[in-house]
Amino acid sequence: MGIDRGFFITFEGIEGSGKSTQIALLSSFLKKKITKKVFLTREPGGTKISEKIRKLVINDLDEKSNSLTELLLLFAARAEHYDLIREKLNKNYIVLCDRYIDSTVAYQHYNGNIKLDVINYMQKLIDPKNKPDLTILLDIDPVVSKSRILKRNKKLDRFDKESVGKMNKIRKAFLKIAKLNKKRVIVISNNLSKKDVQTNVQNQVLKFINR
Ligand code: TYD
Repeated sequence: MGIDRGFFITFEGIEGSGKSTQIALLSSFLKKKITKKVFLTREPGGTKISEKIRKLVINDLDEKSNSLTELLLLFAARAEHYDLIREKLNKNYIVLCDRYIDSTVAYQHYNGNIKLDVINYMQKLIDPKNKPDLTILLDIDPVVSKSRILKRNKKLDRFDKESVGKMNKIRKAFLKIAKLNKKRVIVISNNLSKKDVQTNVQNQVLKFINR
C-alpha cells in the first residue's frame, strides 16, 4: 500500500507523556505497512540550525529570560524547520513531528504571557495553512508522567523540572486546545500499556489516512 499525498501529523503532550516512544513506534509501523516515505522530526529542532536553537531554548534560557526572546527563538527554529517539512510534504511524505504549534499555544500563551494573536500571526508567516492535518494529544496525569521523567537516565532540563502544578496547567491547556479543534486533535490516554496506546494511535492514524 502507498499514499499519493503528504500528511502532516504532530504529537503533543506534557513532559513524560510518552510522545517520543509512541511517535517512533508509529514511524516503524507506517514504514513497514504503508510507505517508506515517513519523515520523523521534532520541535524545537529538525534542522542543523534549529537544533542549535533548541539547545539555546532548552539549556541556556531559564525562567528569568525574556519571554519574547524565547518565543522569537522558537519561531526562528520553526521557520527553518518548516521549509524542510514543506519539501517533504510536497514529495508525498508522511511527516511525523514531535511537538509543533499547539506546544507554542500551550506553553507560551496559556502557561506564559504571549497573546494568542501574536502567536497566530507569526505562525501564519511561516505556514499559511497554519495547522497540521492531524494531531495526536497523548494525555496523562502529571503525577504519573513526573515519576516517569525521574526514572529516565537523562539529565533533567528546565522543562523536566516543572512542578506537577505547572504541568497540570499545561495539560489543561492542551485539553482546551483539543476541545477547540475537535476535527484535528485526537486525545489518546496514555494510562494504558505502551502496546495498547500504540494500537490506538495506529488506528486513529490509519482512519485519517484512509479517509
Ligand atoms: P521536548 O523535547 O519534546 O520535551 P519532552 O521530550 O520532555 O516532552 O520539548 C522540549 C521543550 O520545549 C518542552 O518541554 C516544551 C518546550 N516547547 C515550548 O515551550 N514551545 C514550543 O513551541 C515547543 C515546540 C516546545
